[in-house]
Amino acid sequence: MRRVGLIGWRGMVGSVLVERMRAEGDFALIEPRFFSTSQPGAAGPDIGRATGPLFDAEDFVALAACEILISCQGGDYTDAVHPKLRAAGWRGHWIDAASPLRMKDDSVIILDPVNRPVIEAGLAAGRRDWIGGNCTVSLMLMAFGSLFHAGLVEWVTTMSYQAASGAGAQQMRELLQQMGVLHGAAADLLLDPASAILDIDRRATAAMRDGSMSAEHFGYPLAGSLLPWIDRDLGNGYSREEFKAGSEGNRILGLPGPPVPIDGLCVRVGAMRCHSQAVTIKLTRALPLAEVGEILVHAHPWIRVVPNERTATLARLTPTAVTGTLDIAVGRIRHLAMGGDYLTAFTVGDQLLWGAAEPLRRMLRLLIGR
Ligand code: HSE
Repeated sequence: MRRVGLIGWRGMVGSVLVERMRAEGDFALIEPRFFSTSQPGAAGPDIGRATGPLFDAEDFVALAACEILISCQGGDYTDAVHPKLRAAGWRGHWIDAASPLRMKDDSVIILDPVNRPVIEAGLAAGRRDWIGGNCTVSLMLMAFGSLFHAGLVEWVTTMSYQAASGAGAQQMRELLQQMGVLHGAAADLLLDPASAILDIDRRATAAMRDGSMSAEHFGYPLAGSLLPWIDRDLGNGYSREEFKAGSEGNRILGLPGPPVPIDGLCVRVGAMRCHSQAVTIKLTRALPLAEVGEILVHAHPWIRVVPNERTATLARLTPTAVTGTLDIAVGRIRHLAMGGDYLTAFTVGDQLLWGAAEPLRRMLRLLIGR
């Protein structure tokens, strides 16, 4: 059995990963070693069997004794530990949720239902760094990767509606707190059916503007509003989140020829953990919708194509419907007025599952199955 070290398993992505690994019986196939940056020596997580005390995540001997390491500890840990381990001659497989290694020459961005051949080529070439993609990019490709592979995409714009979880656990809490403040500001008026809606709105607007909402983590009110900037300002009109669409997207796909332009705006909305995206796809040729549907539905087992009808859409193509599942819902598929080679669609996916944890555990499975 391979010895597999897990670092950062207590955080949000790490917890989802451990949950999924338990559900899929992954722990029965490995000898897990749990590391901690803060509590070495304490008891490990409940995985249905004894795990022994936690190892120190700074203990390079203990780390290097693992054939595979999976880190959900974040980019700072990767920056601090990965180069030292490699410099010391460690030749194990490093599977990482964080971004620092994603665009490095020696790394492969992992999203096997979309880029299994890229991963296989990486394995054949002796690659050892396997990095999860940005959640928005991964979810977009889980939805539409099959159209790229069919050579049908000339360019794509993606307009995102990103959940609080993408920013972090504290932000999820803050969103709910803000919602509570918003409700509290007008609670008495809401109890009175005769109260004036403009009075209710004035109270809500005041609550958003007068500092009564906690905004320590987001910096601004999100509840009742939205935030059309995610991650750093790159100084060229792009947010860092937007920059990743084209760069990471093309790297994941690994298509021959020039990169396909993938570009758009990223927006934070008050959803908990599902990222949604509206896309405009310029097809390389006019394509009937039935053919588009056929290609999408056969992409992989987690695709759920939702008919472009009101009832089905509102029941099945929402964060409420998709959250906590591995489903990649795709719907609102129709041509645009610009012509039969212009397609629009909407997709929803859980950013903690296919957007973060799931590609990591599947890479682990791939490695231990070899
Ligand atoms: N950067 C993403 C977000 C999260 O802020 O939603 C994960 O890639």
